[in-house]
Amino acid sequence: MKKYSVAVVGVGAVGCEMLRVLRQRKFPIKNLRVFARSSRNITVDGITYHVKQISPGGFRGIDIALFAGTEGEKGAAVTYANEAIIRGAIVIDNGADFRMNKDVPLVVPEINPKDIKKHKGVIANPNCSTIQMVVALWPIYKKAGIKRIIISSYQAASGAGRGAVRQLIDELRFLSKSNYQDLKIKQKYQKALPQQLAFNVFPQIGVFGELDYTSEEWKTVRETHKIMHDDKIKISATTVRVPIRTGHGEAIYIETAKRITPDAVREIFEKAPGIKVIDNPKESSYPAPIDAEGKDEVFVGRIRKDPFVKNGLWMWVVSDNLRKGAALNAIQIAELLIKK
Ligand SMILES: NC(=O)c1ccc[n+]([C@@H]2O[C@H](COP(=O)([O-])OP(=O)(O)OC[C@H]3O[C@@H](n4cnc5c(N)ncnc54)[C@H](OP(=O)(O)O)[C@@H]3O)[C@@H](O)[C@H]2O)c1
Repeated sequence: MKKYSVAVVGVGAVGCEMLRVLRQRKFPIKNLRVFARSSRNITVDGITYHVKQISPGGFRGIDIALFAGTEGEKGAAVTYANEAIIRGAIVIDNGADFRMNKDVPLVVPEINPKDIKKHKGVIANPNCSTIQMVVALWPIYKKAGIKRIIISSYQAASGAGRGAVRQLIDELRFLSKSNYQDLKIKQKYQKALPQQLAFNVFPQIGVFGELDYTSEEWKTVRETHKIMHDDKIKISATTVRVPIRTGHGEAIYIETAKRITPDAVREIFEKAPGIKVIDNPKESSYPAPIDAEGKDEVFVGRIRKDPFVKNGLWMWVVSDNLRKGAALNAIQIAELLIKK
């Protein structure tokens, strides 16, 4: 079997999960280089990786560069993706910097694997909350069409990176010291998030923009249109941060073009790739983030019809945001690339 030289850029929440998934899926690696802003050794699942300080020359000889660095102007992908490409690598980027560019395919392998053929050096991985939603909705879309989606997501701290998880843990430690007398923290922590997360939820992920929706909410809309190649679907989202370490939950309401029953949806899901149905409400059996952490599937439950709208359906969708929402999806794209 041919082996490949692979670079992982970033060793935060997603980068470490990348290292774990590469090993678990036995990706055929000839050479592995790990980059971040500074060099040091890190340990993931008992294995020590030497992290090198990122530099353009570091990408020499790399076939596939998996980017999981911070987004934005001074972020890893904007600064170094092109350096990797001119040295012969194909970049798979986890951030939002290139996702909506016309010549950058935005790929979820269960949905639009053929789009990777159109790449010109960069393939983008969609946003975590978008990936799990489209994996669940695609089989229904193919069978019955979808005209409308209303989604409320309940997103874990790790979706905002390792700093947000640290903030949640620090807040919980602080509150435990006072035996939870006063649940509002007045003391200032290093803030990775815009609000206290312990014993709290808040409806802000990203920054507020057009029509008072947040950037995360717009990602759900625009990325879904691009991945499903259908910008006629009416989508609106509310994204909420919740005090969970890993695993996003989503309450999703859809209106289908053709009528479809909850039982028919369950049957479609049984055959759909990457989906596991847990739907026995009478036994309190439904997906929960704590059970999804570390797993690959998108879990679906609470499938039920709208009592008033003929083609309306609800479902509850949970997945590990660091795996299918980021590292796993990116590595599945890499697997598709090498298969071709
Ligand atoms: N967390 C999720 O659920 C999730 C899901 C989908 C997509 N994403 C995207 O994945 C990316 C990584 O997110 P994360 O949650 O892993 O963030 P994170 O935990 O904050 O880690 C960021 C990593 O990026 C490195 N980095 C930052 N700027 C860099 C630069 N200029 N050059 C090289 N490395 C740089 C940091 O290096 P140092 O360690 O040296 O500081 C750190 O290792 C982001 O674009 C994010 O939007 C995240």
